[in-house]
Amino acid sequence: MLVLGIESSCDETAAAVVSDGRRALSNVIASQVRIHGKYGGVVPEIASRKHTEAILPVILQALAEAGVGLNDIEGIAVTRGPGLIGSLLVGLSTAKALAFARGLPLVGVNHLSGHIAAALLMDPPPELPFVALVVSGGHTNIYLVRDFDDFQTLGQTRDDAAGEAFDKAARLLDIGYPGGVVIDRLAKQGDPRAVSFPRAMRDSLDFSFSGVKTSLLNMVKKRGRGFSADEIPDVVAGFQEAIVDVLVEKTLQAAAREAVRRVVVCGGVAANSRLRSRFEQDAREREIDVFIPPPVFCTDNAAMIAVAGERLLSAGRRDGPDLNAVSRWPLGLRL
Ligand code: KG4
Ligand code: ZN
Repeated sequence: MLVLGIESSCDETAAAVVSDGRRALSNVIASQVRIHGKYGGVVPEIASRKHTEAILPVILQALAEAGVGLNDIEGIAVTRGPGLIGSLLVGLSTAKALAFARGLPLVGVNHLSGHIAAALLMDPPPELPFVALVVSGGHTNIYLVRDFDDFQTLGQTRDDAAGEAFDKAARLLDIGYPGGVVIDRLAKQGDPRAVSFPRAMRDSLDFSFSGVKTSLLNMVKKRGRGFSADEIPDVVAGFQEAIVDVLVEKTLQAAAREAVRRVVVCGGVAANSRLRSRFEQDAREREIDVFIPPPVFCTDNAAMIAVAGERLLSAGRRDGPDLNAVSRWPLGLRL
């Protein structure tokens, strides 16, 4: 089945064509990162307006790059939530209009299930069941995935998401946006043991990242003038290490507890180079297979939505013109 995926839940307008839920023929992403960079975070009203401008050119480009026309498309998958409501509505209304005009089946997809489904684009894909860490700007959750409609939450963040902690730290240090990307780059020049940060909630599969953020804030306050450019790499390397440590440890602990030997790591923060190498190393030591999609399928994209949508469409799921966007949608909850 040839599925057109559409994603607009935050600040990326994306469209992709995926064949049989396995092969991305195109994956077009129009990022608004430079626009929101000025404000140090996503401004919802601006995001919706930019989605409106970008959505049709992005869809046309996705079709062109895949070498197909709308006539070849057999189904449409669109992110229904969770996310910014104004942003979601742009992708959703476009998908509904296209489906209605072309008489195509339409399905609304949970963005988090999309992040997990990105692992199915890998060769070989993970077999079920597996433990999945979804780690992004809005979420840090561990799931037991028995099937693509059977998710059990094993752990979640009690406060900030890991990506949010990276973004807030970068804002505090005034080193650029989006924080995760900048910290990943600067940390490569630093020593992760030079500055130590706390690791919270060691005995639980839940996360808390407010402590590590407050610890950084206290360091900055104590010094009065913040850190010099020379000191920043060590500071962010230590900060990143504290976050990576707990993400890796809890996810592998969850796999051990569930007696599952496969782990999927996905979402924007899974693009982090230190997180990727630490997972690969630690999982190998514990004889667990780890699946981390290539970075372009970790950060927000529409190929992952098409993959998740293809499975729903193949199982006979159809949504109608009354389909609405939802800002909050825990994974596994049937709406
Ligand atoms: O999945 P995503 O693109 O959007 C959400 O669904 O939230 O994730 C965005 C988050 C941001 O917080 C960003 O700082 C973080 O992913 N991120 C990274 C990296 N690339 C993106 N964090 C750490 N290292 C990276 N290389
Ligand atoms: Zn995302």
